[in-house]
Amino acid sequence: MADTAEMAETAELRVGDQTVQLPVITGSEGERAIDISRLRAETGCITLDPGYANTGSCQSAITFIDGEKGILRYRGIPIEELAEKSNFLEVSYLLMYGNLPNADQLDYFTNSINHHTMLHEDFRKFYASLPKDAHPMAACSAAVGALATFYPDSLDPRDEHEVEVSVHRLIAKFPTLASYAYKHSVGQPFMYPNNGFDYVGNFMWMMFGNPCEEYEVDEVVRKALDLLFILHADHEQNCSTSTTRLVGSSMVNLFGAISAGINSLWGPLHGGANQQVIDMLAAIRDEGMTGRQFVERAKSNDDTSRLMGFGHRVYKNFDPRARIIKKACFDVLNQLGVHSPLLEIAVELEEIALKDDYFVERKLYPNVDFYSGVIYNAIGTPSNMFTALFALGRLPGWIAQWIELHSDPDFRIGRPRQIYTGPTQNAWIPVEER
Ligand code: CMC
Repeated sequence: MADTAEMAETAELRVGDQTVQLPVITGSEGERAIDISRLRAETGCITLDPGYANTGSCQSAITFIDGEKGILRYRGIPIEELAEKSNFLEVSYLLMYGNLPNADQLDYFTNSINHHTMLHEDFRKFYASLPKDAHPMAACSAAVGALATFYPDSLDPRDEHEVEVSVHRLIAKFPTLASYAYKHSVGQPFMYPNNGFDYVGNFMWMMFGNPCEEYEVDEVVRKALDLLFILHADHEQNCSTSTTRLVGSSMVNLFGAISAGINSLWGPLHGGANQQVIDMLAAIRDEGMTGRQFVERAKSNDDTSRLMGFGHRVYKNFDPRARIIKKACFDVLNQLGVHSPLLEIAVELEEIALKDDYFVERKLYPNVDFYSGVIYNAIGTPSNMFTALFALGRLPGWIAQWIELHSDPDFRIGRPRQIYTGPTQNAWIPVEER
């Protein structure tokens, strides 16, 4: 849990003829919040904030974002530094345990994850019962929820040992679950994990390998995926993380809370945008549209199209992850010798949008999803798996936030209020009189 923020001043609020003093608290990066936790008790009023754009739901010590300056840090460490020097499992440890692991801790963690990768054999039947065209996000969410049925011994969110076991199981098994979703959709045999590979290599083997052929992990691809997972690993109180926290606040087990987070991520305004971006680029190519024509459509009120992969609730400047991914995109495609017309279209769209008044005025920049799909596409990942890869990367962040929730001294079940606008008291009328 975060060191509690400081309270140095108060805000004054007048409601009718009543004046109340509300504490103003300041976080470690100077962000200020008016603490309204006593507001209803003292004034009878609640606050209304559609989309929660002005609402802080918790205090957190995990991830810091400055959307105006384009800063992202995990546990204080800049994302650029982690992207360059770390790896996904180390970053997972950092997020979940709060500090960089020493050599022994990293060794223990890596080994533990490496030895929990296998799924219960009955998961084959579980996947076999899904339609072939089941979206991998639906399959992953269902499968993560189903882990609770296979591991009833580790479901208590307040038992330190059970939490540790379920966390390791989930991190270890998610790549296996995700790759099963893919294998089922293409009718190929499910691949058992091969713990001789590292975490990302193992995922590649289960996704792209088959039992009939030798499989060699391509180092360029492995590194690219590891980088993408690091960049997706946490992003403070976004929609899926808030979902995970809210669902977790009912004291449901880890698997139930993360399963809900996966569904939240699936939506096209959130993680599902990475699939939408590649579909958008392919549609522009296939319909012979120019970048300018599509940008005009995205701006038009008469058209529901948006420039997918652009815009962000918090970043009003460049998303630092998008910068890193754009560079990685060129590097990876270059190293793999892939020529991607989709990348050319993406670059053209970005150039047009960044000079267009509509996007400039609204401070809409490329986000994490704009270029990631081009990399996934170039390494042979089908587009309906993109969001599942996002989920794989986001897993340690969701888990870290869920753990932090449970150690929060202010822990309460999440239960927002509403302003009721329906009919006032009405009588029930017998059906024959209606
Ligand atoms: N294309 C065209 N117009 C846009 C776009 C876009 N991508 N994004 C925002 N706008 C416009 C929007 O129409 C509105 O215009 P107006 O003020 O005239 O009504 C204005 O910009 C503000 O948009 P908003 O929807 O009120 O902003 P928000 O903070 O509620 O939504 C967003 C943020 C990310 C959902 C939105 O920018 C969007 O839909 N982007 C496309 C989907 C996308 O790329 N999502 C991934 C987000 S980042 C990673 C993640 O969360 O998974």
